[in-house]
Amino acid sequence: MNNSSGMWSSRLIFVLAAAGSAVGLGNIWRFPYVTGENGGGVFVIAYLLCIAVIGLPIMIAEIVLGRAGRSSPISSMQILARRSYANSGWQLIGWMGVIAGFMILSFYSVIAGWALAYLIKMMQGLFVEIDSVAAESLFENFIGSPQRLIFWHTAFMSLTIIITARGVGRGLEKAVKFLMPGLFFLLVLLVFWAAATSGHFLEGLDFMFSPKPEDFSGDSVFLAMGQAFFTLSLGMGAIMAYGAYLPQSSGIASSALTIGVLDTIVALLSGMIIFPIVFANQLEPSAGPGLMFVSLPLAFGNMLGGQIFGSLFFLLVTFAAITSAISISEPAIAWLSEKRRLSRAASAYLIGFLAWILGLGSALSFNIMNEFTLLPDKTFFDSMDFLSNNILLPFGGILISLFVGWRLDKEILSSQLSEVPSWLLKSLVFSLRFVAPGGIFLVIAMTFVS
Ligand code: TRP
Repeated sequence: MNNSSGMWSSRLIFVLAAAGSAVGLGNIWRFPYVTGENGGGVFVIAYLLCIAVIGLPIMIAEIVLGRAGRSSPISSMQILARRSYANSGWQLIGWMGVIAGFMILSFYSVIAGWALAYLIKMMQGLFVEIDSVAAESLFENFIGSPQRLIFWHTAFMSLTIIITARGVGRGLEKAVKFLMPGLFFLLVLLVFWAAATSGHFLEGLDFMFSPKPEDFSGDSVFLAMGQAFFTLSLGMGAIMAYGAYLPQSSGIASSALTIGVLDTIVALLSGMIIFPIVFANQLEPSAGPGLMFVSLPLAFGNMLGGQIFGSLFFLLVTFAAITSAISISEPAIAWLSEKRRLSRAASAYLIGFLAWILGLGSALSFNIMNEFTLLPDKTFFDSMDFLSNNILLPFGGILISLFVGWRLDKEILSSQLSEVPSWLLKSLVFSLRFVAPGGIFLVIAMTFVS
């Protein structure tokens, strides 16, 4: 990712790369299905609040740490703790991030493999004029096959590793420059399509945006917070690792805001596409991880030119997943390769291979291991997802905000944020000291007490 000078070539490229990290399966696949499982409106509001109140300050904090440390997250934390006369134990943030990264990458690759498989199915025209029963059974048959899931998991992981091994540099920059606008265009097109043809657009909007108090539970807020961390790529050093390559002159706060807004728009658009289709076809909004893989083929299968648009869409989703997967592995790869312990390529292959093995558990949890539970009532896939997104990322977020709020040398902080007015800097420090960590803590406490 670093060119010869080890920097992004401009602020725009950083924003695109970080948005490429943020925008991915979290927006298009996970946001709609978790929203559906949690009753809609209340969940969406909690999610938006978490993005604004917890996510944005922590994103700024991560970029600050990355650019001030200019190394992998583990080393940046060591360096900054030393320069701030803080306990070297703060490097735990970097280590936890590497562990969370393994877990996330492992199941991320399995689901991204589904998108890759659906790209091929779409191109073959398997969904032309399909109905909801057939779309559902096609999906059930697909995930019921361990061989196929492992094959596509392997294919996606290989693609990702080949790119990261080369050093993602110019390739990533080019990819995101075309990918982001393309994805955006297709999403908007699909929203119009859903609005014009589903006949259930308002029902979809109503589900997403009107809170029904009876659906409210401490649990939904907890899951909304996990989703906020996941979708913004926060809490494990991914954005920190990208921040390490941000030129000194670029504004951090405005970049974070742009990334957060782009990411949120993509998630909301995805929901506005998927829910009308769900209601128009009597599907269950709470269907789980298969939601997008049943509803979107239905949409494309019954639309003029759907084979082409559908193929293009799954191609873009696959690309969006690759730019995200790259960032998930970056903290570990940057750490392994920075001290020249291993070459960049060898580090990438090693990390990818280990995550691939862990991913087998998730691939099998949809078929032959679907009775096996790791956490109570949770399959291997559900457990990986829960432990990383709902536990490790928020916990990493607490540590990051506390470190930047309380321990990071004030000179370092203000020199990184020299462009922001002092009232904003003060409110940022306040929210990193109290609001963000307190909010995360409260949400976790509420969940485990109730
Ligand atoms: N944000 C990405 C998505 O929504 C996934 C992702 C990339 C991620 N990097 C991450 C999640 C780091 C957590 C941490 O698909």
